[in-house]
Amino acid sequence: MESPLILFFKVLFVTVTLELQAYGSLGCFEEERIGLLKIKDAFNHPNGSALSSWGGEGMDCCMWENVKCDGTTKRIVQIFLNRTKLFELVKNEGDWYLDSSLFLPFQQLQNLSLEGNFLKGFQGELRSSKLEYLDLSSNWLTEIPSLSAVKSLKFLNLEMNRFTNLSDHFRELTTLNNLEMLSLAYNDISGNIPMSIGALTTLKFLSFRNNELSGTLQEGR
Ligand SMILES: *[C@@H]1O[C@H](CO)[C@@H](O)[C@H](O)[C@H]1NC(C)=O
Ligand SMILES: *[C@@H]1O[C@H](CO)[C@@H](O)[C@H](O)[C@H]1NC(C)=O
Ligand SMILES: *[C@@H]1O[C@H](CO)[C@@H](O)[C@H](O)[C@H]1NC(C)=O
Ligand SMILES: *[C@@H]1O[C@H](CO)[C@@H](O)[C@H](O)[C@H]1NC(C)=O
Repeated sequence: MESPLILFFKVLFVTVTLELQAYGSLGCFEEERIGLLKIKDAFNHPNGSALSSWGGEGMDCCMWENVKCDGTTKRIVQIFLNRTKLFELVKNEGDWYLDSSLFLPFQQLQNLSLEGNFLKGFQGELRSSKLEYLDLSSNWLTEIPSLSAVKSLKFLNLEMNRFTNLSDHFRELTTLNNLEMLSLAYNDISGNIPMSIGALTTLKFLSFRNNELSGTLQEGR
């Protein structure tokens, strides 16, 4: 009935459509793509221009810069946001707090760097069940963030912030029973090294370099 030419175009149309759908399903997860755009807004509030390659035509956020997806699941496993916030924005807007819930869409996130962002603190508690590597160094944090919900954490860098004591949330860090590396070097912490540090039996590297701490490290408490 149908001419071979029309049939040919019909088959071609169906093939192209199917391939486009397949390509779409190879891209990143929609909630993660939207999540990244929200992070971009937070870093650029109110008029910055960082992460300019995020968004636009590229729907597959696995291809965006500073982001890495797992090759099989296409879930985002790494986000590098180091040195992304412009100093000018912080200077104009005042103390900058990052909303922890921005990271909730990333269920498989393993590595996160927020190094060098003039960050004063977090709003809310970071809840990221797969996070292993967290770099918060070179910020303006005055209080150790609450990380007791991030039980998977192995590597935590808190160097070069503005901590003056090890109270409150430091105790929570000692309940992270996968922690292998912890650095609080180059802060302004004074007082005694807390006994609770002995509870971190998985620890392989610990640095309190360049602080005003005294006392000794005790094992197995
Ligand atoms: C952003 O806004 C601030 C304060 O209103 C202004 O000083 C600055 O020039 C603006 N920057 C840009 C890139 O528009
Ligand atoms: C962020 O950190 C990664 C890994 O250490 C590095 O490759 C990249 O160049 C850094 N980006 C900036 C802007 O510093
Ligand atoms: C996370 O970072 C560590 C250290 O840089 C690296 O060895 C590991 O492959 C990264 N993990 C992922 C999922 O990219
Ligand atoms: C610890 O430092 C924080 C932030 O500067 C401060 O608010 C808090 O009062 C200090 N706690 C103690 C016990 O000194």
